[in-house]
Amino acid sequence: MISSKLPNVGTTIFTQMSQLAAETGALNLSQGFPDFDGPQALRDNVARHIAAGHNQYAAMTGLPELREQVAAKISRSYGCNVSADTEVTITPGATQAIFCAIQALIQPGDEVIVFDPCYDSYEPSVALAGGRCVHVPLAYPGFAIDWQKFRDALSPKTRLVILNSPHNPSGALITRAELDQLAALIAERDIYIISDEVYEHLVFDGVAHCSVLAHEALYQRAFVVSSFGKTYHVTGWKTGYVVAPPALTAELRKIHQYVSFCGVTPLQWALADFMAEHPQHISELPAFYQNKRDLFCNLLADSRLSFTRTPGTYFQLVDYSAIRDDLDDVAMAQWMTREHGVASIPVSVFYQQAPKDMRLVRLCFAKREETLRQAAEKLCAI
Ligand SMILES: Cc1ncc(COP(=O)(O)O)c(C=O)c1O
Repeated sequence: MISSKLPNVGTTIFTQMSQLAAETGALNLSQGFPDFDGPQALRDNVARHIAAGHNQYAAMTGLPELREQVAAKISRSYGCNVSADTEVTITPGATQAIFCAIQALIQPGDEVIVFDPCYDSYEPSVALAGGRCVHVPLAYPGFAIDWQKFRDALSPKTRLVILNSPHNPSGALITRAELDQLAALIAERDIYIISDEVYEHLVFDGVAHCSVLAHEALYQRAFVVSSFGKTYHVTGWKTGYVVAPPALTAELRKIHQYVSFCGVTPLQWALADFMAEHPQHISELPAFYQNKRDLFCNLLADSRLSFTRTPGTYFQLVDYSAIRDDLDDVAMAQWMTREHGVASIPVSVFYQQAPKDMRLVRLCFAKREETLRQAAEKLCAI
């Protein structure tokens, strides 16, 4: 047997719950992916580019046409200019971008501050680089940064802070004031930022997403990561990008070129064409998902679940304590799947140590209206 580099890692809860949903025939609102397809024109583009012979390695940094589209979109969305050549890198998924940024930054013994509940890829990536995650719980409920806890977590070994807004699983949005506060606290220290903004275009109720790209002081030390998978309803394409100042980008590319070298060529062509021809896809996305959120929440109003409408992402947290306060969230998610035909994700799995009284599961509403209606009917019957 080899000695495991990740001894505490097993099959993730996302795989487990999706498997249980498949076995039991439950509606799968657990893992975060749409049950509908990306735009027809986007899918047609892939076929066209494969037929046209765009099937060999792309540039290591990403197809120039796609990097140009990303830079143009950033300028439209956040009013800031980044260089497509020296600041934008296309990667096979946001996960790979995050992995490479962590490998570029973290030396053995370094500490990385993550905010719990947090996305599951951060900690193993830090461990593989020889670093250690310091988990800072977000305030509960509300999921805002607790600045006292953050200050307590800072140490001379802190090298990196990982932000995620809109936040999976809570949907919470980081504010400009929070970014300012963070910038002030790390100003005199050698600390970098990874800003995981894969849900950047899924922000509701007319609120604007506060991107680290638009925060001059923080951007100077940041890798900002996004995912075409989330924005274009094609999570299986595993295509994302990372934006960082030139010196940071140069270090990230050294890693990226040996992890995967480049992203998938016809997918990059398809995305570049689609972004050029359909820029409105992005401006229409908040309303598209807000309608799904509102439909789902309106239908759940008759259930015994309690919730506050999520301000971002395609996840809705629901409190089930009025139904089965006796069950912890893992047991509840399994019970709901087996007995009531709806699969969810327990929120405690996103924590090093979840609050004892928390009774929350995460439901994904990136689903067709019919799926949401069926799921809500089942949930209202509990
Ligand atoms: C917070 C967060 N970051 C990153 C990712 C991964 O994105 P990708 O599929 O592009 O690797 C996800 C996917 O669920 C996510 O929720």
